[in-house]
Order: sequence, then structure tokens, then C-alpha cells
Amino acid sequence: MAIGEDHERKVNRKPADTPFKQQHLQAWQPLFTAGNVYIFFFVISIVAIPLGISILHVSNQVNELVIDYTRCNRTITDSNKTSVDTGIACYEHLSHNNSKCSCTISFKIEQDMMGPVFMYYGLSNYYQNHRRYVKSADEYQILGILSNDVSSECEPFGKAFDIKANKELPIAPCGAIANSLFNDTLTLYKFSNFSERILVPLIRTDIAWAFDKNVNFQNPGFINGSLENAFDGFTKPRNWQKYVWELDIEDPTNNGFQNEDLMVWMRTAGLPSFKKLYRKINHTEPGFENGLLRGDYELIVDYGMLIKYKSI
Ligand SMILES: *[C@@H]1O[C@H](CO)[C@@H](O)[C@H](O)[C@H]1NC(C)=O
Ligand SMILES: *[C@@H]1O[C@H](CO)[C@@H](O)[C@H](O)[C@H]1NC(C)=O
Ligand SMILES: *[C@@H]1O[C@H](CO)[C@@H](O)[C@H](O)[C@H]1NC(C)=O
Ligand SMILES: *[C@@H]1O[C@H](CO)[C@@H](O)[C@H](O)[C@H]1NC(C)=O
Ligand SMILES: *[C@@H]1O[C@H](CO)[C@@H](O)[C@H](O)[C@H]1NC(C)=O
Ligand SMILES: *[C@@H]1O[C@H](CO)[C@@H](O)[C@H](O)[C@H]1NC(C)=O
Ligand SMILES: *[C@@H]1O[C@H](CO)[C@@H](O)[C@H](O)[C@H]1NC(C)=O
Repeated sequence: MAIGEDHERKVNRKPADTPFKQQHLQAWQPLFTAGNVYIFFFVISIVAIPLGISILHVSNQVNELVIDYTRCNRTITDSNKTSVDTGIACYEHLSHNNSKCSCTISFKIEQDMMGPVFMYYGLSNYYQNHRRYVKSADEYQILGILSNDVSSECEPFGKAFDIKANKELPIAPCGAIANSLFNDTLTLYKFSNFSERILVPLIRTDIAWAFDKNVNFQNPGFINGSLENAFDGFTKPRNWQKYVWELDIEDPTNNGFQNEDLMVWMRTAGLPSFKKLYRKINHTEPGFENGLLRGDYELIVDYGMLIKYKSI
């Protein structure tokens, strides 16, 4: 009885009698003779050369201007007193609320830069791809799901002492990535023909991936119309001077975890030398419709500002 059943099952399990199922498909083994290798490379080159020429042509049309401000002249504005610092540390010199360190770089654009014009910041030898750095964030927290127990991946950037609350609180946004947010503020001016300084209109939204803006980064909501209340019980990352709800106080859609500068930074770069989109020029503003025209420009870099919070 048992043997008969076994036999029946074996018959039923036989795959259909097709070349594919019976593994009788025809095989082909390429033979690399000099003749057919020549033909192969020739056909590939016919496709690749025009493609390469057109890519080169498009890439040559991109007009790029790189400004390195690593060793810029540091100007310390400490409570109305301005001085130029040639040393390395400027930040340590600050003592008053809202004092700041800045650099002024003058440069010339020799050739009209046709729009659209984008502004990037670049860092080199910065390993955002480090194994522990990449993981050092709490994906639920940035989804707006706040919890007092931040993900252990964030350690040692999970909790910090909060000066306002006068006690240790969980950090929002926690982790090493957020803690090291790129926070230089770049402002661009153009000099008109009459040496007037005109502010170049920059757009600070629409620079992050739509997927990050719509899915990955969400605010916990508003409590009594305030983002600050929603983040009650959380402190700022140790290296930050501001709280997460103060990242962009002028534009509520670009504030908190929904801040696009934060999103751009948190999408970690794969290579140690990288560029990230910082701003776009607003080409609907009069004078900037066609792009950045040749002329004299000035770049102001604010790279440190001291904000002193009082405990309440
Ligand atoms: C920086 O400041 C020093 C002294 O004020 C000046 O000699 C030098 O030209 C400045 N450098 C730049 C790049 O502005
Ligand atoms: C700085 O200047 C502003 C106005 O120019 C003044 O109100 C303020 O008291 C000054 N601060 C100090 C510390 O002198
Ligand atoms: C400024 O000068 C440039 C050439 O030096 C000229 O092409 C341009 O039209 C001038 N712009 C204005 C607003 O006068
Ligand atoms: C929100 O407003 C209501 C009424 O004004 C108040 O009772 C409540 O305490 C407020 N909540 C917070 C978190 O401030
Ligand atoms: C900017 O970042 C540096 C380094 O992380 C930090 O020391 C500084 O406090 C930050 N400044 C502001 C204004 O957040
Ligand atoms: C660009 O400038 C125009 C004109 O000033 C303004 O209406 C518009 O809101 C600006 N766009 C952005 C994204 O800021
Ligand atoms: C410093 O300035 C910030 C706003 O820029 C303010 O919230 C804070 O209370 C000020 N701190 C002191 C000690 O005045």
C-alpha cells in the first residue's frame, strides 16, 4: 500500500515534457576568434563614440566656479566689536549672545552663467560612509514618532544635558549624523554697475529628495500650533546651537525634521569627497532671470554663532 502511494506520487511529480523543464535547451558557447572580436569592438565603438561625444558636449556646457574658503579671513563680531582673526579657532573667542564668526570672499564671474544656477557645498576627507556613522540615527524618530528611549544606534549621541530644562533629555534628532550637521550659512551678493550690493535671491526649499521630504522625514505634528511644544522633553544635539524647531523659523514647512538642509545632510555621501546641494538661485527675481551674469560678487560665510539659552 505504502509502496504503491510512493510510486504514484513519483509519477505525478514528473515535470512537463518541454525542453525548458527537462533542461534540454540549446546551448551556445561563444568562440573568441580574432575576427569576431574585431567586429564586436567595432560595433560597440560605433555606439559608444557618439554617446561619449554628446555627454562630453553637455558636460562642457556646465559652467562651474569653485571657491575654497578653508583658509579665509575670519572676522569675529563679538557684541558690536569686530576683529580679524588669523588663528584657527574663532568660535572659542565668542562670548556674547548672537556673536558670530564670518568670512568675506570677493570673487569675479568672468562669463555669464546661464540659468538654472545651483549652489553646492563640498567637503573633502569627510567619511560620511563610515560604518558606525551611517547607522547613527533613529529612523523612527525622524518619522515623527518620538520616544524617550532613542534608538541605541544613536549612542553616544542619544541624550544630553539641556540648559533650559536643567536636566538630561533625549536628543532630537539623535545620532552622529545629525550632530555633525553642516551649518555654515552662505550669503551671496552681486555688485551692480554702480557698486551697490544686491542680495542674490536664494531658494532653500526643493533641494532635498522628494522621497525624503514626503516619506522619510516627518514632524511629530503641532501642539497648540507650535512645533516647539511637540518637541517638549527633547533637547538639541550637542554640537548644535539651535533646537530642531528653530532650523527655519520663517518657513514652517521647512522646519524641524522637515528642514531640507537636514535631509540633504542626513542622506549620507558614499565617497569621502562630496558635494551637496545647498541653494538654488531664484530666477523669477528681476535681474536674475537669465542666471548669474558676469561681474563682481561677494560671498559671506557665517560659520559660527553663539546662542546662549537661559534656564527656565
Ligand atoms: C586677509 O587679511 C589680511 C590682513 O588683514 C590681508 O593682508 C589679506 O590680503 C586678506 N586675505 C584675503 C584673501 O582677503
Ligand atoms: C550693540 O549695538 C546695538 C545697536 O547698534 C545696541 O543696542 C547694543 O546695546 C550694543 N551692544 C553692546 C554690548 O554694546
Ligand atoms: C553693466 O555693465 C555691463 C558691461 O560692463 C553691461 O553689459 C550691463 O548692461 C550693465 N548693466 C546695467 C544694469 O547697466
Ligand atoms: C494647549 O492649550 C490649552 C488651552 O489653551 C491648554 O489647556 C493646554 O495646556 C495647552 N497644551 C500645551 C501642551 O501647552
Ligand atoms: C556648527 O557646527 C559646529 C561643529 O559641529 C558646532 O561647533 C557649532 O556650534 C555649530 N554652530 C551652530 C550655529 O549651530
Ligand atoms: C522667487 O521670487 C519670486 C519673486 O520675488 C517670489 O514670488 C517667489 O516666492 C520666490 N520663490 C521662492 C521659491 O522663494
Ligand atoms: C540669546 O538669543 C536667543 C535668540 O537668538 C534668545 O532666545 C536667548 O534668550 C538669548 N539669550 C540670552 C542670555 O539673552
